[in-house]
Amino acid sequence: MAEDCGIPGSLLKVERQTLYEVDGVPMMRRFFEYNEKIRNFEAKPDDVLVATYPKAGTTWMIEIVDCILSGGVTDKIRNQPSGTRAPFIELCKSSHSYPGVDILDATPSPRLVNTHLPVKLVPPSFWESNCRIIYVARNAKDVLVSYYFFHKLNLRMPETGSWEEFFESYLSGKVAWGSWFDHVTTWWDIRQRQQVLYIFYEDIVQDPQRVIERVSPFLGRTFGRTVIDEIMKHTAFSNMKDNPMTNFSNLPWFNLKVSPFMRKGKVGDWKNHFTVAQNERFEKEYQRRMAKTSLRFTDDL
Ligand code: A3P
Repeated sequence: MAEDCGIPGSLLKVERQTLYEVDGVPMMRRFFEYNEKIRNFEAKPDDVLVATYPKAGTTWMIEIVDCILSGGVTDKIRNQPSGTRAPFIELCKSSHSYPGVDILDATPSPRLVNTHLPVKLVPPSFWESNCRIIYVARNAKDVLVSYYFFHKLNLRMPETGSWEEFFESYLSGKVAWGSWFDHVTTWWDIRQRQQVLYIFYEDIVQDPQRVIERVSPFLGRTFGRTVIDEIMKHTAFSNMKDNPMTNFSNLPWFNLKVSPFMRKGKVGDWKNHFTVAQNERFEKEYQRRMAKTSLRFTDDL
């Protein structure tokens, strides 16, 4: 059903999307229709791909990586929206959003690319070019909560149903971009075959300087104290929350009265939302799904 986008006086009506399967992964129609163009995208060896499951800290890592690649907090970083500096490859032209593939084709190298795609849907040229990839993973419970609120504020996301219904959809992987379990584990497995730096959201929260000092050499850069301090200040939660280039206050189909995009930025917020029974149910499924992987998360600091 079309909804008013929430901006007083705006004529823009947006439709909540339904999910379609692409190679077994639920995606939104815009991606499904755009699949061939995305698969044929030509990655280059000096591209940098930031890959995440939704709500894992994508916007945060993009800001950090862009600062590192730019040698600090430049005018471009201060004045251009995050979405134009790191185009989201699977967003298609028929939407009102930035058309990822077309922008990237017209962008001079080195390009910063953003994706939520699971390993099996990543355009093959990314593996062939062996470009550098930074994958950010966040614990499953905080992602669930953040994703629920994101569905509420983004009037193009599918209907969530109740909190209880969304909880079940997420656990069974019936949400956009599919199962969190499949996403984080397959990216974990591929990290040794490709140039993938696997970073945890919780580590950035705990020690952003250490993460910047890991990401910088991976991207072939080293910085002194002053630049690192400048990057840390620019990418701090309070700063990104107030920054119109990173807080998505410019997208009319984001109703930030429902929830801010930069919502809490914390580890362990799930405890404010999960019931005891939900936590038990989640843990049981978690143990089952994560039994065979060496990947470990922390959901509390
Ligand atoms: P919450 O909803 O838990 O607050 P993405 O960019 O992948 O959509 O992820 C959004 C989540 O990352 C939101 O989580 C947001 O608040 C958090 N986030 C973004 N920038 C952050 C920062 N600088 N510090 C901490 N968390 C940040």
